[in-house]
Amino acid sequence: MNPAEKIDQLTDKLNHYNYRYYQEAVSEISDQEFDLMLKELETLEAQYPELKRADSPTHRVGGAITKNFETVVHKYPMLSLSNTYSEQEILDWDERVRKGLNGRPYEYICEIKFDGISLSVNYENGLLVRAVTRGDGTQGDDITTNVKTLRSLPLKLRKTEEIGDDFEIRGEGFLPNKEFERINAEREDIGEAVLANPRNAAAGTFKMQDSAVVASRNLDCFIYQYLSENDNFKTHEESLIALKNAGFNVSEGWRKVADIAGVIAYINEWTEKRHTLPCATDGIVVKINDYAQREDLGFTAKSPRWAMAFKYKAESKSTRLKAVTYQVGRTGAITPVAELEPVVLSMTTVKRATLHNADEIDRLGLHEGDYVFVEKAGEIIPKITGVDTSRSSAELFRPKIEFIKECPSCNTLLVRNEGEAAWYCPNEKGCPPQIKGRIEHFIQRKALDIDSLGEGKIEILIENGLVNNASDLYQLNFDQLLGLEKVHTDENSGKERKVSFKEKTVENILAGIENSKNQPFSKVLFAIGIRFVGETTAQKLAAYFKNIENLKAATFEDLIQVPDVGDKVAQSIISYFSDSDNLAFIDKLQAAGLQFEGEDAAVEIEGNALAGFTFLYTGTFVKYSREALEQKIEANGGKLVSGVSKKLNYLIVGDGAGPSKLAKAEQLGVKMISENEFDELMD
Ligand code: IVH
Repeated sequence: MNPAEKIDQLTDKLNHYNYRYYQEAVSEISDQEFDLMLKELETLEAQYPELKRADSPTHRVGGAITKNFETVVHKYPMLSLSNTYSEQEILDWDERVRKGLNGRPYEYICEIKFDGISLSVNYENGLLVRAVTRGDGTQGDDITTNVKTLRSLPLKLRKTEEIGDDFEIRGEGFLPNKEFERINAEREDIGEAVLANPRNAAAGTFKMQDSAVVASRNLDCFIYQYLSENDNFKTHEESLIALKNAGFNVSEGWRKVADIAGVIAYINEWTEKRHTLPCATDGIVVKINDYAQREDLGFTAKSPRWAMAFKYKAESKSTRLKAVTYQVGRTGAITPVAELEPVVLSMTTVKRATLHNADEIDRLGLHEGDYVFVEKAGEIIPKITGVDTSRSSAELFRPKIEFIKECPSCNTLLVRNEGEAAWYCPNEKGCPPQIKGRIEHFIQRKALDIDSLGEGKIEILIENGLVNNASDLYQLNFDQLLGLEKVHTDENSGKERKVSFKEKTVENILAGIENSKNQPFSKVLFAIGIRFVGETTAQKLAAYFKNIENLKAATFEDLIQVPDVGDKVAQSIISYFSDSDNLAFIDKLQAAGLQFEGEDAAVEIEGNALAGFTFLYTGTFVKYSREALEQKIEANGGKLVSGVSKKLNYLIVGDGAGPSKLAKAEQLGVKMISENEFDELMD
């Protein structure tokens, strides 16, 4: 089979499995087999980019970088909807519709109003060719590469009988709530501020430059509108059914209703039920079903007369602010937390709400004993939106809440970096919650996974002076641990619970610590807690540098060559390795036997044309992703190195190559080649 045929065959097969999986929930092959085929296709496409098909499933994994999104003028303007929070206004609107249609009978379609960003997607000859943001309604940004990562959006249509080959669809792109929570947990891991709500997170993700990062976030979309030159459908209902049949993700929740009473019933039915959907929602949309009637009703300057949005009021309740407490994170960042009289919101009881930082306390103007309004932002994170002045007695007699000046744990004077909102406790090495936080980070499942040490056991070890950092865990012995105990008081119930180290517990702890020595390099790298180095970045660093020595020696220029590593992360890695305590910590872990070297992934051998030569690359390439280039070098017997030195044979130079690498290569007389010249080495 020649490469073109092979690429065609793999593309068709993978698209078939994807369709079965995402549209019909059937797995015909294992994830592993699927990934192998996808890798094979990726490698072939890197070799023969001209053969890559528009519907290639590799678009889903991203990789392309967009520096500036091109502006595209919408073929059909993207209007907004009139909206209201009042049922009465819905009834008034229905009256206007009735008059506008001169008493003819009409039907409504009710849909959920998803709270993400609106997308306009064009298909030509059955292929997804362009995806554009709403922008100002007349023109938006071309975000096709990012939108192609949405697995529920067909890249190539399978059934076009009903909907045709050329049309535009509109829908709402969103970040599923589960993904939002996962991303925020990851951000907490690396000491980054959490994202406020899924909508903002979605908007930010759709506009990211690196589509590989977009792909890793599992965005999704619901499609709610079809537009084309031909009159394929007479009603909105027909179009929704046809879109669904053609493989688009049409949310199941829509309903045809006979009159406005049906609309009100729908509104009431979804008030609570919408919280069970996978994404944020902020209301419902009512639309006239019949297209001819829509034309009769027409548009105002900004919105159609044939549609109306009813928005649910964000559920807001007033409750008493009992106190503001302060949490010290692993990185020393201080987070103020409002302790509240418990209150039920969107089906859950809220007792605490983050106040984010000192500025937020000032903005709200909080005083001790205030009643405050609590809301669930994006239905997930409880948020304080203001003071309920109707219930709060005069402020005069109650002191203003002032942000603390000293660390609540170790009393060190807090500091604030210029331009940052958070105050920090600078006593990194001696502040107990920071020490505990770092050890908890080290043992968590995504890191070294020492689960036998959870539930307050770390606290006991710290209080007994047995550990001060994670490397001390590897010095512990049976006799030191046996018999240690502590009484914990549960924060919520006030119940007391005794944790004591009996024989079995101690054995489990020591076995867990011992097993952690088998965890791979990437997990160790994540566990040591370099600021801004999350789980994924640690994996990329481990794959790129292979061992800790290379990473320690890496320069800023080297580091930013790694996918996912930007200036901020690179700087943080450099500063981590320039601290002698950190180096001593790593030495101790190394001496204890932890993995500081990665196992190389097996690479299929293609030939040995590059045997005996060393390579390094800089910048981005047209034909190759970084991974594909690395694979190609290794598959042909070449060796990748991590820095420019006299020993380097070839520096492969791409777009946006690092200037210091080029200068150094020039100075040392290292041969610099383009990607085409690199290919020629293997001819
Ligand atoms: S129909 C003429 N249907 O709400 C506008 N919009 O405020 C036709 N939205 O920009 C839009 N869910 O991003 C429609 N089921 C739904 C929707 C929906 C969310 C968004 C959309 C639009 C905004 C209007």
